[in-house]
Amino acid sequence: MTVLPTALDPRSPEYAANRAAMLAKLADLDAEHAKALGGGGEKYVARHRGRGKLLARERVELLLDPDTPFLELSPLAAWGSDYAVGASMVTGIGVVEGVECLITATDPTVRGGASNPWTLKKALRANEIAYANRLPCISLVESGGADLPSQKEIFIPGGALFRDITRLSAAGIPTIAVVFGNSTAGGAYIPGMSDHTVMIKDRSKVFLGGPPLVKMATGEESDDESLGGAEMHARTSGLADHFAVDEYDALRQARRIVARLNWRKAHADPPPAEPPKYDEEELAGIVPGDLKVPFDPREVIARVVDASDFDEFKPLYGPSLVTGWARLHGRPVGILANAQGVLFSAESQKAAQFIQLANQRDTPLVFLHNTTGYMVGKEYEQGGIIKHGAMMINAVSNSKVPHLSVLMGASYGAGHYGMCGRAYDPRFLFAWPSSKSAVMGPQQLAGVLSIVARASAAAKGRPYDDEADAGLRAMVEQQIESESLPMFLSGRLYDDGVIDPRDTRTVLGLCLSAIHTAPVEGARGGFGVFRM
Ligand code: COA
Repeated sequence: MTVLPTALDPRSPEYAANRAAMLAKLADLDAEHAKALGGGGEKYVARHRGRGKLLARERVELLLDPDTPFLELSPLAAWGSDYAVGASMVTGIGVVEGVECLITATDPTVRGGASNPWTLKKALRANEIAYANRLPCISLVESGGADLPSQKEIFIPGGALFRDITRLSAAGIPTIAVVFGNSTAGGAYIPGMSDHTVMIKDRSKVFLGGPPLVKMATGEESDDESLGGAEMHARTSGLADHFAVDEYDALRQARRIVARLNWRKAHADPPPAEPPKYDEEELAGIVPGDLKVPFDPREVIARVVDASDFDEFKPLYGPSLVTGWARLHGRPVGILANAQGVLFSAESQKAAQFIQLANQRDTPLVFLHNTTGYMVGKEYEQGGIIKHGAMMINAVSNSKVPHLSVLMGASYGAGHYGMCGRAYDPRFLFAWPSSKSAVMGPQQLAGVLSIVARASAAAKGRPYDDEADAGLRAMVEQQIESESLPMFLSGRLYDDGVIDPRDTRTVLGLCLSAIHTAPVEGARGGFGVFRM
């Protein structure tokens, strides 16, 4: 065993300061998560309960196997927008009858469970996760369909939701819809496209057009039950495969459907693994409040991987990027972690080689971000930093093993790309509350803008207003700072959630388990031209 040593001193003032800064950020995060849990607020929750209905999260909980975890995804979707935090939908991965499933549940307490642009993004992301990892999908539906005032943002791209359901089915991934209430118009295609449907007596309403619309269109008089009730669909149209007497019965029947899927993961679960040698609690005290202060990512790795056992690859070469092999909850992983922030040529080449090795060995990769990007300056340009950064980005782009990204600190510029940022399709990407991501740091960005504006004024022969420049710089800096923060980025679905650093091992373990539902196979060749 090659157990990592530690130099972290939990009694030091630095540790105390780092921890205090992290706990303050976690308290802010809790307050935002509470908003998502609160759904549409007390009034609508009380009305919903008054109708004898379960809340979205209660439905999820009753669906899952008792005492199993639910990895909720994108809980902060829509943060910072005009829509409710959480985007009127719950998505996540949970275990039903021993099967890891991708579960979505619309929240009818938020504007009738209608889908706004962020709900759509969140739902499409959930489908992407189900597809890539071959997770059976269960949709718990009760929704007013499209959020009508924002229809222009969702109507046309929203068609992908129904397309995805049948593509999942075509790929042999089971899809199950349980309808708790309204699922009308476009929403009717959720049960319509699913492999299995459950509807509830006197509750489910599944029709292309409700009574008023039918009256307008054809003059026909009708009622909800005869147009789209559960009994009608179970006895007459055949759209309901299972007729449930109430919500509990519907969830029970959904569990029976999963039990009968004969579902098998591509890779068997490994035996229980040895935990890290060091306390995971200490992960709260590693990242400094000021990201300019570097930290050793080995301290993080030592608290995340099995038995803190890590075999480092090329430790003496390109030391600003730590690479090496470990196991996480019993599954092999390769880890790439930024050490000193900047990526130089050697780090980039080392990363490209390491990623190829992981592909040869079918080993998933974990990227731990704390980078300000690739090195700039004459010496580095002349040394070929563009070529070498391109090699790393080529390797990341064409790698076929699953990637997991965790933004611990900075994730700036092309460094975000090379470390498998969102656009590089990591299977999952999570951010710590300490992270920041943008094209560059706020100060640098404001400074660059100011230099460009000054040069532009000089070229036109105009005087430059230094006072206005200082004001503009401060404003830009503040704007970029707020747009670099994890809650803002999570709101835009640029990650799958902001997590407590102390949960990193658990979250990555749940992801790796889900990932191994599908075959894990690396690329054998198939990379682009490596510019040497
Ligand atoms: N778009 C935007 N807002 C919607 C909405 C939608 N599709 N559906 C409901 N809302 C809003 C309501 O205006 C209401 O807002 P308010 O409380 O500020 O007045 C809130 O959500 C709750 O709706 P309400 O009708 O009181 O809830 P309900 O539980 O009694 O009924 C529905 C829910 C979904 C059955 C009902 O709202 C409905 O029929 N909505 C329209 C459905 C539709 O035709 N959608 C288009 C499909 S493409």
